[in-house]
Amino acid sequence: MNLRRTKHHEALRNLSDSGSLNYKKMIQPLFVVEGLSEKEPVPGLNNVYRDTESSLLKQIESDTKNGTDQFLLFTVPKHKSDSEFSSEFYNRAISSVKKEFPHIFLWLDTCLCSVTTHGHCGHVNSDGTVDNAKSVERLSRLALLYAEAGADGIAPSDMMDGRVASHRKILDTKGFHLTPIMSYSTKFKSSFYGPFRGAAESSPGFGDRSTYQLDVRDRETAISASIRDKEEGADYLMLKPGITSLDLVAPIKEATKLPLGAYQVSGEFASIELLAENGFLKREDGILETWNVFRRAGVSFLITYAAREGKKLFL
Ligand code: PBG
Repeated sequence: MNLRRTKHHEALRNLSDSGSLNYKKMIQPLFVVEGLSEKEPVPGLNNVYRDTESSLLKQIESDTKNGTDQFLLFTVPKHKSDSEFSSEFYNRAISSVKKEFPHIFLWLDTCLCSVTTHGHCGHVNSDGTVDNAKSVERLSRLALLYAEAGADGIAPSDMMDGRVASHRKILDTKGFHLTPIMSYSTKFKSSFYGPFRGAAESSPGFGDRSTYQLDVRDRETAISASIRDKEEGADYLMLKPGITSLDLVAPIKEATKLPLGAYQVSGEFASIELLAENGFLKREDGILETWNVFRRAGVSFLITYAAREGKKLFL
């Protein structure tokens, strides 16, 4: 445990606050796409875009005006590769954000699904299996590239074994001991990631993610996975999808004594939008009802596609 790492920025102190959920404990996901000429709406999610490098800056400017100062950025490189990284793109995109908005807290998601030709979250062997050791090695290199480009925090979402320990080690070795890790520690294989995968160009080209993401039927491993990530050095833990994991908030908090957030994922969020578009509910009422349920369940923070509306809707 490193208290300096979770105390050096107001945004981090807000995540750790044991009080109830509010807009300061919300994180806005963003997508930046290499080589895109104009920003594109993400189908299914109102107000959410695949940004160009320059529209990303405008988006953050308007979000900060609306009271949002924590972001989770997904990078989508143009050229997919199973060995290389688009380091120049990462460098440009991340450093320009931090140069223009030094006060925000910028988390970067580390995963390989938007990077690789096959869309899996790790390195795939010639027999189609996902290689844990090679995946962790490559993911840790990505975490370091992000940190070097100016990322404030790293959020590993790949679900390989040992990635948190490996991220922590490489960050500490290279002088990034104050860069916190927010682990997607209890992340289930789910049908609710659809709109995200379109936005992040990350659908698996074959098979599914059941050999590395958690099985929704398995409560014990779901809890152990978060305990394990704490032991490996995670500073913040996360459940995902959100609503379908709420029964695990109390037991994981009790077992880990770490701030535990939830990710209200794209499919959960899009279902509210769809109901609203069809006149079955009022959009703001639907969003607020779910946020109140996350608050009631006691999550420490929330990643949600409407974080930028948090100050308006949910003081
Ligand atoms: C990358 C990743 C996914 C999400 C966040 N990081 C997709 C997946 O695991 O397939 C989903 C987020 C969402 O649906 O909003 N591995």
